Amino acid sequence: IWQQKWVIGNWKMNGQLQENNSLVHKLRSFQTVPNVCIGITPPTVYLLQVHNAVQIVLNNPIYTCAQDVSRFSEKGAYTGEVSAEMMRDVGVDIILIGHSERSLYFNEKNDVQRQKIENVLKVGLIPLLCVGESLKEREDGREKEAVAYQLSVFKGLKTKNFAIAYEPVWAIGTGKVANREQIADMHQFIYDEVLSLCGNDANIRVLYGGSVNDKNAADIFSVPHVDGALVGGASLKYEAFAAIINAAQ
Ligand code: G3H
Repeated sequence: IWQQKWVIGNWKMNGQLQENNSLVHKLRSFQTVPNVCIGITPPTVYLLQVHNAVQIVLNNPIYTCAQDVSRFSEKGAYTGEVSAEMMRDVGVDIILIGHSERSLYFNEKNDVQRQKIENVLKVGLIPLLCVGESLKEREDGREKEAVAYQLSVFKGLKTKNFAIAYEPVWAIGTGKVANREQIADMHQFIYDEVLSLCGNDANIRVLYGGSVNDKNAADIFSVPHVDGALVGGASLKYEAFAAIINAAQ
């Protein structure tokens, strides 16, 4: 998957058993899409449902992704928490780390993100680190400084595989999309930063996220160093999500 384009749908706090079933069943019957890694990120309580529904798709697997994970790695008295090991146990492949909504509503910072990444790697799953500047940081010309700081959580990790989603906070759920130059510039910067932090032999996927939809996906995918998309709102509708997957081929 380190050569493929990734299209990961993040359902956030949306979904119910019946509607999940219908969406996943439609996606299962989707024509084989060569070179595209498709992922679905349901709320934690629906991970097993989604995993069971997608695992029979053999020639074109759909990956099960989680929206977050505990910073604690050992089982024990951590009420409300779900460990990386439990995620693996129910069939999760990829885990989002540090989505901006986690920092916004739960005040999650680099130190916690680092612990979560280590826990995910320890159980053999893939962490997908979300980075991106706020509107204020972009207006002040500090967007690269902000992203470099967020990427510094990778420093010294014992892995050669790095998945990152660049999501400018001002583009999430707003209908505003970063323009081609902004995306190209930041994706190049992220590649350079990760290579310099982690070595030239790193495998890197950098997805763009922020108001990706069926209308703008093809244009976004044609920007250099865009290796896919992390899709929020548009991943909840089959037609839109399928069109985005098609645009990634
Ligand atoms: O995880 C997905 C992103 O936050 C983007 O969400 O496509 O609804 O803007 P959005």
